[in-house]
Amino acid sequence: MKIAVLTSGGDAPGLNACIRAVVRAGHHYGYQVIGVKRGFKGLIDRDFVSLSPRDVGLIINRGGTILLSSREDRFFSYEYRKKAVENLKKEGIDCLFVIGGNGSFQGANLLAEEFDFPVIGIPKTIDNDTYGTEYTIGFDTAVNNAVESIDKIRDTSMSHERIFVVEVMGRDSGFIALASSIASGADVALIPEYPFPIFRIVETLIKARERGKRFSIIVVAEGVAPARKIAGILEEKLKPYGFGEVRHSVLGYIQRGGSPTAYDRITASRFGVFAVEQFSKGKTKIMVAMENGKVVPKPLKVSFGRIKKPDFSDFQLNNILTL
Ligand code: F6P
Repeated sequence: MKIAVLTSGGDAPGLNACIRAVVRAGHHYGYQVIGVKRGFKGLIDRDFVSLSPRDVGLIINRGGTILLSSREDRFFSYEYRKKAVENLKKEGIDCLFVIGGNGSFQGANLLAEEFDFPVIGIPKTIDNDTYGTEYTIGFDTAVNNAVESIDKIRDTSMSHERIFVVEVMGRDSGFIALASSIASGADVALIPEYPFPIFRIVETLIKARERGKRFSIIVVAEGVAPARKIAGILEEKLKPYGFGEVRHSVLGYIQRGGSPTAYDRITASRFGVFAVEQFSKGKTKIMVAMENGKVVPKPLKVSFGRIKKPDFSDFQLNNILTL
């Protein structure tokens, strides 16, 4: 038996740990393992590389992906998906493991539905916004990266008695913003899922000042509005109350890189081994998911068309702790 693995979409710390797990679990079950370069692009271009257990040595601690990644527009066209499946069949692949997010799972599902090709999805994205699983590989590292940066920004915020608006990643979701806000003791988390109007931010900051706190951090998910814009609005609104400049900082790709945390390495290893075990039991067209802290299989389609939201209780918790 021969299996193939690819990484697709935005990179996330822990991808290499997951590739390693798929390759070594594959070896454990007696399968040959092929790596597909640059995600779905490599499927279309037949850019395949053989992966032995030794080829994935010394990568568990590395960020990024040794298989490279891409977002491949050609995959939206049936003609190219057909080519991809032909290439997989020519190579004798019995199952394709797609380590990806929502978009990648939809691509994988098309191969399963249109060509009856066996696929298994393994969820990764620093945004943690894949429906159907409590966790996606990379989130913990991204949050830790953000917290480390916010802690540093707080030094300046405190020393200069300034308000800072810090923008974190999350095009459509506020998981990183909320978690990094709670973990860094920020005053406000602005996330797309649970709005917090400007007048309430102003109120919160005025109350903080009344309590003697002369600096504040506001964490905003990029999906809400640019930090620069929010900082500008707040500066205007707060001027009458004697506040000074409001600065902003955009953390950007710093969050997506670097060595994965132990949690991401362990979770990526669990997800990868579990995926191969499922294949060994004849189960495909599924995604690996975390539910109540356990790794479970779910139909791949579960993740489509639904929005995963952070717990409202965490949003409330953040507000209670900053009061
Ligand atoms: O990986 C998810 C994410 O980090 C989003 O939060 C962000 O908007 C997006 O990727 C940006 O990625 P790229 O610049 O690679 O398209």
